[in-house]
Amino acid sequence: MTKKVFIRTFGCQMNDRDSEALTGLFLEQGYSFVQNPEDADVILVNTCSVRAHAEDRALSFLGSLKALGSNGRVIGLIGCMAQNKGNDIFQKMPHINLICGPSSLEFIPEYVVRIRASGERIVDLQDRLRGEEFYRASYAIQPNHTQVVISTGCSNYCSYCVVPYVRGELRLRRPEDIIEEARRNVVRGIKKVTLLGQNVNDYRLPTIDFVKLLRMVADSEGIEEIDFVSAHPKNTSKELFELMAQKPNIKKHLHLPFQSGSNRILKLMNRGYTREDYLGLVSDYKKIVRGALSTDVIVGFPSETEDAFLQTKDMMERVEFCYAYIFKYSPRPGTAAAELKDDISQEEKERRHQILLNLQKSISFAYK
Ligand code: SAH
Ligand code: SF4
Ligand code: F3S
Repeated sequence: MTKKVFIRTFGCQMNDRDSEALTGLFLEQGYSFVQNPEDADVILVNTCSVRAHAEDRALSFLGSLKALGSNGRVIGLIGCMAQNKGNDIFQKMPHINLICGPSSLEFIPEYVVRIRASGERIVDLQDRLRGEEFYRASYAIQPNHTQVVISTGCSNYCSYCVVPYVRGELRLRRPEDIIEEARRNVVRGIKKVTLLGQNVNDYRLPTIDFVKLLRMVADSEGIEEIDFVSAHPKNTSKELFELMAQKPNIKKHLHLPFQSGSNRILKLMNRGYTREDYLGLVSDYKKIVRGALSTDVIVGFPSETEDAFLQTKDMMERVEFCYAYIFKYSPRPGTAAAELKDDISQEEKERRHQILLNLQKSISFAYK
């Protein structure tokens, strides 16, 4: 039996890191990696559910694999869309013989062996604490940088967001496991690290919070550069900025999504801060850290008036982000916002999107 694997990844940095860790597990099993799905014995598609567009792209890719089904090949739908739509896709796409949610990725090599031996189809959508086993291989694609996951899931329930439903409740990795992984990386020559969590500031145990954790990793021997993503404005503190200013190896860059400049919309989004809170944070950050800022923004959230949109635009003009990810609102079934009428037309979302893209382009250009 040959051992060739192909992995395609959609979605966020969390998925990039998950695919990287999986790559490590497959390399340990003696697999080699191929660039074309046709050449692979195992095809894994790591998916994202955050917007309809992300799901559509993955679905179309999965559809294109139809002719490759059978011949003992494993075709796996894994990650967030597996969790969200796995049972449905299991019925509709018989060429897919492995469906695995984000909490169970560590079992994939074992499932592959079972499927290849018996031809069965396996679905694992259990929501559980991910085992440390998953991170064991410490494999990194880039020569000098990788990400270390500090938490999985999210319990913030922003009203538009599917992540808490597909990734489960917030779960923290133990600080000693995080530090140990960072140390293992250094030993292997990987000295730049990004700490990953949906909201890193949610990291809180009785004796350690995110600021302390960041300090501990920054102080670990051999760490040349460290950053983190994402910070949530509702629990980002001056203490964090002070640490960023103090430690030369913490990157002077903060990704701080504000989503909307309108207080009414922020409330509907369940974000837990106001535009004034956000601008206050930005002013502290600029004074204390003097670093760069980037952000995420959503246009066309239900009931977003022209005035509310202009407040978002105003925020971008005031803060001057080095870059911004700007998204058109996409209702996600099962979320609280999906109950609200999606009343901004596609054309209007498009118009607002274009305005902000152009604005950001000129701001980013001025940065260079
Ligand atoms: N945990 C991160 C965001 C993860 S999702 C945070 O809170 O900052 C990445 C981005 O996708 C979000 O910041 C948001 O801007 C966007 N997003 C999430 N759900 C969306 C939806 N239903 N429609 C459009 N954009 C969405
Ligand atoms: Fe989604 Fe909000 Fe959690 Fe970010 S903080 S993952 S936007 S629910
Ligand atoms: Fe990331 Fe998409 Fe899942 S943004 S957490 S891959 S839904």
